[in-house]
Amino acid sequence: MGSIVVAKNLEKSSKNEGKIEEKMFSLSEEIKQDTYSPKIIGFLCNWCTYAGADLAGVSRFQYPTEIKIIRVMCSTRIDPVIILETLYNGADGVFIGGCHLGDCHYITGNYHTMHKLDMTKQLIEMAGLDKNRVRLEWISASEGQRFANIVKDFTEEIKRLGQSPISASLREDKKDEKILRTIKIAKNAAMSFRLRSVVARIRKSVDEGNVYGEKVSQEKFQQLMSQLIVEEYIRSGILLTLEKNPKTVEEIADEIDIPTEIIFKNIARLWKKQVVLPYGQKGLSPTYMGGIR
Ligand code: FES
Repeated sequence: MGSIVVAKNLEKSSKNEGKIEEKMFSLSEEIKQDTYSPKIIGFLCNWCTYAGADLAGVSRFQYPTEIKIIRVMCSTRIDPVIILETLYNGADGVFIGGCHLGDCHYITGNYHTMHKLDMTKQLIEMAGLDKNRVRLEWISASEGQRFANIVKDFTEEIKRLGQSPISASLREDKKDEKILRTIKIAKNAAMSFRLRSVVARIRKSVDEGNVYGEKVSQEKFQQLMSQLIVEEYIRSGILLTLEKNPKTVEEIADEIDIPTEIIFKNIARLWKKQVVLPYGQKGLSPTYMGGIR
């Protein structure tokens, strides 16, 4: 019986993935065609917030129409890459709604959502966007009025922040290569195995502790995470820059707007692991290309 439910859930979520792509595509198309209006994508967990939204609807609680809702089985289905991809496709805001802590139908799903969102917000800031463009809220099935109020508040906040520089730059005449590149770097960093495995371990290390009951303090973990996020962002930036042509350290630094000495240190580290290899010379400076990934 359990496996039938799981199979049905998987089927539903794969159908939803198709819908996510469809909605993202229509979003960027609308922006390109200059029919822009503020856009918010809301990913709502099936069991709590989606039911809360449903209740808001049947109870006739008014909430802004700027939000386009996508139903997912659990808030933790929303991977950091999906959030960054949604912003890359021109959303001005991303809303994630899940069950209250302790109420997740997959036991600890929403704890993981919370930790993943912390990482995503840091990457969003590094990419040059306001982290308040993404909001996570816990709303239960019985909180229809609360859902309407939160959506109203978030929509007002997005309006205050104005059009996302990414959605503005999707128009040919306003193309801003820099912001498109930085969000792509953030997305690549979010895919990093190292980062993902550390985020997956936060709950074990901070909330639960190891087999001896030893816990790492939240502050210590945050510090390590922030350092790792910066390292992965720089690494992804270097690799993205070297994707097409070999470049010098100065050229890489210039392209991703990071000081030369930091790039130099990271190139040396990546060279050791053969992720970046020396290629040739431009004037007096050596050039590098991408190596083994
Ligand atoms: S099922 Fe709702 S957040 Fe996991």
